[in-house]
Amino acid sequence: MKLTLRVWRQDAGASNGKLVDYQIDNIAEDMSFLEMLDQLNEELTVAGIEPVAFDSDCREGICGTCGVVINGTPHGRGNSPVPTTTCQLHMRSFNDGDTIVIEPWKAKAFPVIKDLVVDRTALDRVIASGGFISVNTGAAPDAHSVPAPKLKADTAFDNATCIGCGACVAACPNGSAMLFTSAKISHLGNLPQGQPERYRRVETMIGQHDAEGFGGCTNIGECAAVCPKGIPLASISQLNRDLVSSLFRKDGFFG
Ligand code: SF4
Ligand code: FES
Repeated sequence: MKLTLRVWRQDAGASNGKLVDYQIDNIAEDMSFLEMLDQLNEELTVAGIEPVAFDSDCREGICGTCGVVINGTPHGRGNSPVPTTTCQLHMRSFNDGDTIVIEPWKAKAFPVIKDLVVDRTALDRVIASGGFISVNTGAAPDAHSVPAPKLKADTAFDNATCIGCGACVAACPNGSAMLFTSAKISHLGNLPQGQPERYRRVETMIGQHDAEGFGGCTNIGECAAVCPKGIPLASISQLNRDLVSSLFRKDGFFG
């Protein structure tokens, strides 16, 4: 497979970058997108050109480290019917002769560090602000000592699969991280262990979300359309319900 790669290049510390074209040949359809970038970097290195900086770690779709915008879609899609992570996108999703545009996540809260690498530590700070439960130290309790209703346990588990990749932010015209934040709110808010801090959690996490420069949610839905873990918009509804409840509680509405 022969391709034209139009890649965003931006020096570390620079406020601007530009798209640069590279020709690449001998790309096998079974290669992953990141393996294709590896091949590009080997060829650039041999030619004495600085390789393209991009993030990756597990390359198995579980860590959330990878992530670039491919032909305008966070993580890319190619011919694949369902969203996936960049590392799980394979070159069979593209056609011989294609031009592929590769850009970094674009969001105010994700400044570019270099080329395709952005600073996503804002998501870590949102989690640190309230995405946890407080437990006493000591031996782990038996798994069945705190019963959880099946439906709520399933909802909590589904939301716990968020890998913090940030594709939802990159897809949102408002640069909102509401889907990411709501995944943690719905994960912990559906478990008995998450109840004591449930309403404080939603306030502190939304406060940090806004302080980081993420935009507000206006129900466009682009986030859920690109989420590789299928976090649903219903999670944002739960976040909104918990936020409203927390405000009523403050006003003494519930006594
Ligand atoms: S909600 Fe989905 S797109 Fe957003 S960070 Fe989590 S896994 Fe990634
Ligand atoms: S490198 Fe870990 S999810 Fe892609």
